[in-house]
Amino acid sequence: MESKLQYKENSYWNKRFASEAHFEWLADWKKFQRLILPRLSKSDRILHIGCGNSRLSHELFEAGFTDVTNVDFSEILIENGKQRYPEMKWVCNDMRTLHSIPSGSMDVVVEKASIESLLVAERSQWDPSDQAISDVDAILRSVQRVLKHDGIFISISFTQPHFRIPAIIRNPGWSCTVETFGDYFHYYCYVMKMGESPDLNELGKYSSILQNNNYVTSSVTLPEDSEDWLQGIDFEEF
Ligand SMILES: C[S@@+](CC[C@H](N)C(=O)[O-])C[C@H]1O[C@@H](n2cnc3c(N)ncnc32)[C@H](O)[C@@H]1O
Repeated sequence: MESKLQYKENSYWNKRFASEAHFEWLADWKKFQRLILPRLSKSDRILHIGCGNSRLSHELFEAGFTDVTNVDFSEILIENGKQRYPEMKWVCNDMRTLHSIPSGSMDVVVEKASIESLLVAERSQWDPSDQAISDVDAILRSVQRVLKHDGIFISISFTQPHFRIPAIIRNPGWSCTVETFGDYFHYYCYVMKMGESPDLNELGKYSSILQNNNYVTSSVTLPEDSEDWLQGIDFEEF
């Protein structure tokens, strides 16, 4: 059986993309498009990070969003993409730096299951390692850098809000909303908007974890009722 630890490795993805034409992680566009379409304009410059061989970018293009740039760190994936979908842009970059993408050049950044691929070595989401915190922060800061002042970041994820929200709001400069979708497994659509502040009363139920582990930050003031929510968590689930 293949080890999920490989999902961090560039060599793993290059080998996989040498023969695999398509694989859709988590969910396809039809399952979450209703959550995203109202937030997009046809003229938006859209950056898809950790795009893999998902059809998401092509689905966006077909829906009329024709300014799409795809980023992945797999050289083979990027070469395949250029051949297969030349109507879109393809850039080989690490999403922790996005070094080829100019600052403030994007209206929308989207990712699906790519942040999670850097977290596969984590033993417990309750106690993220320094490496995990550093990687996630690097991605979020890169995304903030390439977005214009009122741009949005859309993250489609299976990471539960009480783990993801602290990571998002400890990087100030944007708001955050969460919606759930999925028939059997539940997935999350996180939307962050630059230039806004997070609604901590709304998000407070997720942020109690900030008080208990590595995520502690002095830049976030917690709502007073966050302790109540903590008592409602079923710890047996984790
Ligand atoms: C789990 S797959 C998700 C692919 C696609 N987003 C989807 O939903 O089907 C993770 C993707 O992230 C890419 N990736 C992993 N680490 C990366 C990094 N540091 N920088 C850029 N891309 C990375 C992999 O090459 C792979 O395409």
